[in-house]
Amino acid sequence: MLLQASKTADGPSVAIVGVTGAVGQEFLRVLKERDFPYSRMKLLASARSAGSMVEWDGETHTIEELTDGSFGGVDIALFSAGGSISKKFAPLAAEAGCTVVDNSSAFRMSEGVPLVIPEVNPEAMAGMRAGRGGIVANPNCSTIIALMAVTPLHRASRIKRMVVSTYQAASGAGQAAMDELELQTREALDGRPITQNIFPFQYAFNLFSHNSPMTGNGYNEEEMKMVKETRKIWGEPDIAITATCIRVPVMRAHAESINLEFEDSLSEEQALEALAAAPGVSIINDREANRFPTPLDASNRDDVYVGRVRRDISRPGNSGLDLFVCGDQIKKGAALNAVQVAELLL
Ligand SMILES: NC(=O)c1ccc[n+]([C@@H]2O[C@H](COP(=O)([O-])OP(=O)(O)OC[C@H]3O[C@@H](n4cnc5c(N)ncnc54)[C@H](OP(=O)(O)O)[C@@H]3O)[C@@H](O)[C@H]2O)c1
Repeated sequence: MLLQASKTADGPSVAIVGVTGAVGQEFLRVLKERDFPYSRMKLLASARSAGSMVEWDGETHTIEELTDGSFGGVDIALFSAGGSISKKFAPLAAEAGCTVVDNSSAFRMSEGVPLVIPEVNPEAMAGMRAGRGGIVANPNCSTIIALMAVTPLHRASRIKRMVVSTYQAASGAGQAAMDELELQTREALDGRPITQNIFPFQYAFNLFSHNSPMTGNGYNEEEMKMVKETRKIWGEPDIAITATCIRVPVMRAHAESINLEFEDSLSEEQALEALAAAPGVSIINDREANRFPTPLDASNRDDVYVGRVRRDISRPGNSGLDLFVCGDQIKKGAALNAVQVAELLL
């Protein structure tokens, strides 16, 4: 792995919007790890952070306040400051000729905005280039992690129906949520009253239905994102998907239990073969040792980890399969995926 980002006069001018957040900080690490070329790096956040100094790639950078005029001369902007900020500023940036990679849900389902996982559907952003304007959306973290594991299987044998149950980490809700889990854990162990600011329930030593708003059909928004985004990414508007999303007191990296029903069949061996050949996927599937992926295996790692690959005994023959998947949602679920998208713009 290369350790220096490449400051070069030929590189694009890059901006990070929301650089002080959980995803923003990961952008800085991933850009450096991947030797991303840049001529200028502009770090943007709210007025609260403006003027703060950040050491990155051997230089001191000053964080600037995000304003309407932030994007003049910027070729690529990586956005991770929430949906309302993206809604307001991403179109302004795109109009100024900046190509935006947006981590929020603001534009994911918009007509004409590609929703891209580079290992799955890079063709969706064909023709887009740095400095030419436009918006590319990063899918929801749970969708990315599921589709990294499931797409190679879908390509090997068409999936008819997918049932997903998630076990989602605090980091998916940002830095403040991680701080709350740590504080509550200390408070609970010390027998002190629990401080509750971010989530509607005690998080330490507990779990609860995902905190995103409920929709009219009894699913919450996180669950419906998995359904709608998968259909858009695969270009299969009718594929059957259902999801149950749960927050668990894990600091970083989501886990997902996935049940698949195939139109035809896929054996355990064929599934493992397809997964072994898939870029960005690692297998931990040692039945004898009862060793399968954990969120800690996936934390701070680029790959999505897959295991517990087994025939669904409730279905005839090899027409059903179960698997367990873990992925770092700040990395592959957010910053890494966005930087890979940005690489396709070069
Ligand atoms: N965490 C994940 O795993 C994950 C995964 C996929 C997508 N996302 C999406 O990425 C976005 C950020 O998530 P996060 O987890 O990194 O959140 P976070 O840790 O709460 O960070 C939020 C960032 O937004 C900035 N911000 C807030 N208000 C702003 C304003 N008015 N102008 C400019 N910047 C502003 C904050 O800057 P200040 O420090 O100055 O307030 C901070 O840098 C969200 O849209 C989230 O849905 C997150």
